Amino acid sequence: MEKTSCQFCVQMNVDSIPALKASKIRLLEALQHEDADIDCLSDAISTDPAMTAKIIRLANSPFYRHARQHFGLHQSLLTIGMDMVKCIALSMAVMDSLGCEIKYARSLWSHSYATALIALSLSSDHVEKDRLFTGALLHDLGRMVFLSKAPEAYSSLFEFEGYWPDMSLENDVFAIDHTVLGETVARAWHFPEETIEVIRNHHKPASRTSALVYLINHVINQYEKGDQSATSPGNRLIHSYLGDMYKDLVNLIIQRYKINAVIIENLF
Ligand SMILES: [Fe+2]
Ligand SMILES: [Fe+2]
Repeated sequence: MEKTSCQFCVQMNVDSIPALKASKIRLLEALQHEDADIDCLSDAISTDPAMTAKIIRLANSPFYRHARQHFGLHQSLLTIGMDMVKCIALSMAVMDSLGCEIKYARSLWSHSYATALIALSLSSDHVEKDRLFTGALLHDLGRMVFLSKAPEAYSSLFEFEGYWPDMSLENDVFAIDHTVLGETVARAWHFPEETIEVIRNHHKPASRTSALVYLINHVINQYEKGDQSATSPGNRLIHSYLGDMYKDLVNLIIQRYKINAVIIENLF
């Protein structure tokens, strides 16, 4: 594969990525408020048929629905909870810009939803939850951009590796890796610095937030590759950011991953 032409085609295409839709941004801002009024949210979401359909479909999936009656939007929001609604709203905003019909997008979104839901459940407080959410859901934004803007080249790397290509291979082929590419797009979308920090550093942590996403990503990657032993990474950096408890976190992440995998399956 010709490096310079791939680099050129990714860069050209990144420049043409549209901004996130203002209506989705407004909805995400409304969702950030702990005391968000469910009727107002329901009104705002109901103007978006695709999002409404996704939320209702999930709430009426066997995982959530134990009663016979069909849930409408209002009850669906209460049923799946605000964390899940946030994941759906932000992911659909990104899909609007990058496209959602791209090959392998589903497995990348499954991975991203799992990372975000586990990260939210491990947050120590509301402030950390806010800080983690966007970064955890979009930590692999650069891979989404590769899939969207250089679909054939990136898909063939995925097929060759049998899993997501590592950063050195991305650098060899595209002269940029998914952490730097993700950071570039996140800056163009004016995401907050703490989100950009996670996207940039989720493979070499530089804060407690990026260390948490690193650890969750590491465990999920092992599971997705079929290695059920899921050992902790034994990384001194992780220890310095997460303390002695980080090995216990691995078991917690595995438990949450198994629960969330059933929910995420119903999202597609
Ligand atoms: Fe990554
Ligand atoms: Fe990842």
